[in-house]
Amino acid sequence: MTDVAFQSSIHPGNEHCYGLDEVLTACPETGDLLDIQYDWDKVPVPSSMREFEARWGNRHNPLDFSGVWRFRELLPFAPEDKIVTIGEGQTILQQSDHVGKFVGLNPGQLHLQYEGLNPSGSFKDNGMTAASTHAHMVGAKFAACASTGNTSASLAIYAGTTGLFRVIVFVGSGKIAYGKLSQALDYGAVTLQIQGDFDDALKQVRDVCREAGIYLCNSVNPFRLEGQKSIMYRVLEGLQWEVPDWIVVPGGNLGNSSAFGKAFIELKQLGLIDRIPRLAVINAGGANTLYQLFEHDGLRWNDGNPDQALIKKFYDQMDAENRRANTLASAIEINRPVNLTKCLRALDACDGVVREVCDAEILDAKARVGAGGFGCEPASGASVAGAKLLRQQGIIAPSDRVVCILTGHQLKDPTATVNYHAGKDGEKFVPEFRNAPIVVENDFTKIMDVIHQIG
Ligand code: F0G
Repeated sequence: MTDVAFQSSIHPGNEHCYGLDEVLTACPETGDLLDIQYDWDKVPVPSSMREFEARWGNRHNPLDFSGVWRFRELLPFAPEDKIVTIGEGQTILQQSDHVGKFVGLNPGQLHLQYEGLNPSGSFKDNGMTAASTHAHMVGAKFAACASTGNTSASLAIYAGTTGLFRVIVFVGSGKIAYGKLSQALDYGAVTLQIQGDFDDALKQVRDVCREAGIYLCNSVNPFRLEGQKSIMYRVLEGLQWEVPDWIVVPGGNLGNSSAFGKAFIELKQLGLIDRIPRLAVINAGGANTLYQLFEHDGLRWNDGNPDQALIKKFYDQMDAENRRANTLASAIEINRPVNLTKCLRALDACDGVVREVCDAEILDAKARVGAGGFGCEPASGASVAGAKLLRQQGIIAPSDRVVCILTGHQLKDPTATVNYHAGKDGEKFVPEFRNAPIVVENDFTKIMDVIHQIG
């Protein structure tokens, strides 16, 4: 396998390559982010995506059951006996006219990709199965990550379920939704609450992993993004292998958007799709680094040479003003997205756009999703709110086929949901789809009075 896959810098002119046995999160020569690349001539890639359907009938094989590894020829970096899978990727693409109407699309055009149905309740499992596989390949005994909550829950479940390694997770104090914190604790991860936010926790965990030789599972780990490509394979599968017009995804550390871009670049290169959908990355207004840099400052991939001085100036100013990310969508409360340049490549390949939406828009969209079934956590609502905004701006047409990625399960952050419906964020905004609990005395007649008032 090792001659098929290798690690290399994302910088197109940079020829430095590294073997799969190396544990790296940046190019040692240049500091650039790394990709996993393949010598596709040596991989038995099917001639059509439809050929993957044959694996549906072979679900007793854990690799064919997995929604990630049944596409294994598209991420061929691991020997089969090293693959670590816990049944991730059993997610669905659901057409929703209920949400489509809210967004402003014609009937039949809005689809929701429910990644909250993964074992740990978020899309992260798609990436963590791949990172865990690589950790297993290199014999790691300890793994760590910084997290706004879902990465830590995901890493903890892989360690807990397989017993292959121990896990240390770094989270910001008071910054993590309870559902997610409870998962890390219950799955047995050593949990460090850093007195700071996600950006602080990530900086610390990177230094700690380097110093202590611990395997790092944040999305700077290029193997993780290989797994996250599979979300796009399943979207295509859900659309019977037709390419949608738009993929809309919330942006935090920008791993997902980067992985989606790589997936489509490769599928096009392999001749498995004939066109690439457009990509919309949606920031929360309180954590909008990508939006500011891409839409205001005009930062672009620029053939692999993004304007580093512009990025540095932005961060220097952010530090000078001590600007901290701040949003109720705590999963994406991130001001220093580590995959920024990779995401620029994805935006370039997918003719992408970036938008910001405020917390009220995010939570209203989340409530619309919930009222249509399944539900999602706040950050996921950003994709629907972003699609609505792009529709209002005329960038998405009513006839476009749009897929919004719902990244995390509704039960991840019950506090946000209850506060919204109970109107507890009242001083910040008025919830448009409020469904408050009705307080009633423990008295049959009074309860019946309430029942009679229900329209
Ligand atoms: N949605 C959810 C539910 C998330 O948990 C995250 C990221 C994102 C969206 C953003 O995805 O980073 O790929 O742009 N959560 C990370 C974590 C940062 O630590 O769980 P991204």
